[in-house]
Amino acid sequence: ATVKTDYYTEPYRPQFHFSPEEKWMNDPNGMVYHKGIYHLFYQYYPEDIVWGPMHWGHAISKDLVSWEHKPIALFPDKHGLIFSGSAVVDFANTSGFGTEDNPPLVAIFTYHLMEGEQAGRKDFQTQGIAYSLDNGDTWTKYEGNPVIGNDGIKDFRDPKVFWDKVNHTWVMALVAGDHLQLWNSDDLKKWTKLSEFGKDKGAHGGVWECPDLFPLKVEGTDEEKWVLLISINPGAPNGGSGTQYFVGDFDGEKFTTDQTDIKWLDWGTDNYAGVTYNVLPENYYGNNYANDPGQDRILIGWMSNWTYARDTPTEKWRSAMTIPRKLSLQKLGDDFSLFNYPIRNFELLINREGKKDITVAQGEPEILLFENFNQTEIQFIIDSKDFRLTFGNSNGDKLGLGIDSEIHEFGIDRSKSGRVDFQEDFASIPQMPVNDLPDSEYEVRIILDLSSIEVFLNKGQYVMTAQIFPTENYTDLTIENPGGSEINLKDFEINKVKRIWK
Ligand code: FRU
Repeated sequence: ATVKTDYYTEPYRPQFHFSPEEKWMNDPNGMVYHKGIYHLFYQYYPEDIVWGPMHWGHAISKDLVSWEHKPIALFPDKHGLIFSGSAVVDFANTSGFGTEDNPPLVAIFTYHLMEGEQAGRKDFQTQGIAYSLDNGDTWTKYEGNPVIGNDGIKDFRDPKVFWDKVNHTWVMALVAGDHLQLWNSDDLKKWTKLSEFGKDKGAHGGVWECPDLFPLKVEGTDEEKWVLLISINPGAPNGGSGTQYFVGDFDGEKFTTDQTDIKWLDWGTDNYAGVTYNVLPENYYGNNYANDPGQDRILIGWMSNWTYARDTPTEKWRSAMTIPRKLSLQKLGDDFSLFNYPIRNFELLINREGKKDITVAQGEPEILLFENFNQTEIQFIIDSKDFRLTFGNSNGDKLGLGIDSEIHEFGIDRSKSGRVDFQEDFASIPQMPVNDLPDSEYEVRIILDLSSIEVFLNKGQYVMTAQIFPTENYTDLTIENPGGSEINLKDFEINKVKRIWK
């Protein structure tokens, strides 16, 4: 492959988040761990910086924080474009595509026919499969495609397949417009429908997309619950695209839940279509989890929003992925809460520079200067629910964030953060209720790259992710105490985040 020397120097190019070398990217796809390598495929249009006929782009990583670009993995064919889906290690060669000694990687995805080809057809979204016998480098489509046809469901897509350890079968989570369908198969080719979920549960402000279903231990207990992720667009709490989740049970056939409220994974405007890695149990074929992140449940989301994804002010490529995040399930009172927080390997990118304690009195803001805040991690422990942080630069751009204790809401104000004029909804101010933050102290962690901010309150209990396009990098940070008494920011750190890949 040719080395592109101007890569990473373009305005707004993320320095440590994954972005395609060039052209349009949306959802993460086919996330699977195999022989020490994390594969990341993604919705990709190689001809333009707007959405178009979808392919699967491909990148690999050993640590999830440094990436190597690979050639395009899947191209459209006569059955349609290649929409979102998943990949598995078919470790017992159930599909027969490989051998027991060299089990195949199998990708399961949606075929989508182009508009002109859809006329009068009910089957314009079907499910297909492809396999690789060389660790994901080259792929062969199954000649029996599609493996699941369609007799008239309008939005029928985004298969997430996983191995059901209890029932020794493959299970597929698939969305059908306003609900989830579960299917199973012994060989990844012949599929049987098991059940449906969700017509009367959760948020329905838009189409259900990109499901994921997986078990998770409740932190500090031996109890295991099942978590269902469903992305919806539109209908997110701060507009456009967002991801809701359900905590419940899966008996091998049905997903059920007592949950009555609507829960959101990330309240920011820019974390969509996130799904998690398929990881086989230890000692299964080729897997060795001596190194972190082991068998953690790790999510990557697309750091954009369909409301303005095609309008953002970049020229060579469009959009990036979130920092990989570890999911954990916490029980707070009688309720479950899904936390998401940067994986431990993110530490590989940080030079920790030392900490200090900062006290801020009302009306006496603290101002900190730094050469470039747009490649930093900032973290501290705070003893108040009243604070405001504002990043600024010499052009007068201002990016604000903080909690308003009167309404118990956290918000990110990017309305004057730099370029916001490319689409009318971009300047809105996303907010989230933070009623269940600990009363005493909690951690605030902020990760800033050239065109994004991710904020994690209390180790991922409340999370907000947003794109930003400052006209120059931020160089000052003002900390304010809008409330009454003093506020204390303990162990305050500003750390540079380095890029450790070419
Ligand atoms: C989600 C989505 C998926 C679909 C893909 C098409 O962002 O709409 O439902 O498979 O993008 O690119």
